[in-house]
Amino acid sequence: NTPVITIDGPTASGKGTVASRVAQQLGWHVLDSGALYRLTALACEQNMIDSDEESAVAQQAQALDVHFSAGRSYLNQVDVTDALRQEHIGLLASKIAAYPAVREALLARQRAFQTGKGLVADGRDMGTVVFPNAPLKIFLVADVQSRAQRRYKQLIDKGISANLSDLLVDLQARDLRDTNRAVAPLKPAQDAYILDSSSLSIDETVNQVLQYWAN
Ligand code: CDP
Repeated sequence: NTPVITIDGPTASGKGTVASRVAQQLGWHVLDSGALYRLTALACEQNMIDSDEESAVAQQAQALDVHFSAGRSYLNQVDVTDALRQEHIGLLASKIAAYPAVREALLARQRAFQTGKGLVADGRDMGTVVFPNAPLKIFLVADVQSRAQRRYKQLIDKGISANLSDLLVDLQARDLRDTNRAVAPLKPAQDAYILDSSSLSIDETVNQVLQYWAN
């Protein structure tokens, strides 16, 4: 049975980077579950699906033609890695992620990543819903200011223009929606370690996770 380390937490807490570094260190696979919600959002945009129509959106999630390779994400064989990072796609992802039918449609797809030596799964409900039996669960948090700064830097580094105060507002809106939704709300699993990365570097955070795993 392939072991899973789950890393959940709010937006821009550094989960993605930490998850991929931990996976690299251990030689494990990684699941960026947020990418599946973002891909669904992008597919809806491309196919002009009304995001208020839960079943139409779930249909898109079900039919998603995606693959991940060398850190890039493909939708219908097209590299959409950069398009996925757009802030409006993140917001749309968070809207449609509140639909139970969408979450249900993506469940099996996520569990299929549990193969090989091990899996590091990054998301909101990895420890609570998707991999409830994971032997190590991390809930990664950071204060909203540091998260907005990180997200800002991430976008600027990619050549995408951004505005810090807009990002702060977006982050808070996303946190609120992810935390208050009825299905799979953002919350730590009962057996998760809460790790605050506000004043930790990426390396320190990665090392802390590896240390939990070693013990
Ligand atoms: O990069 P960021 O943390 O902002 O977002 P993400 O991990 O790419 O996920 C985008 C959106 O998908 C989030 O705002 C969540 O609402 C949703 N999501 C979710 O509901 N469950 C997951 N396991 C992963 C993401």
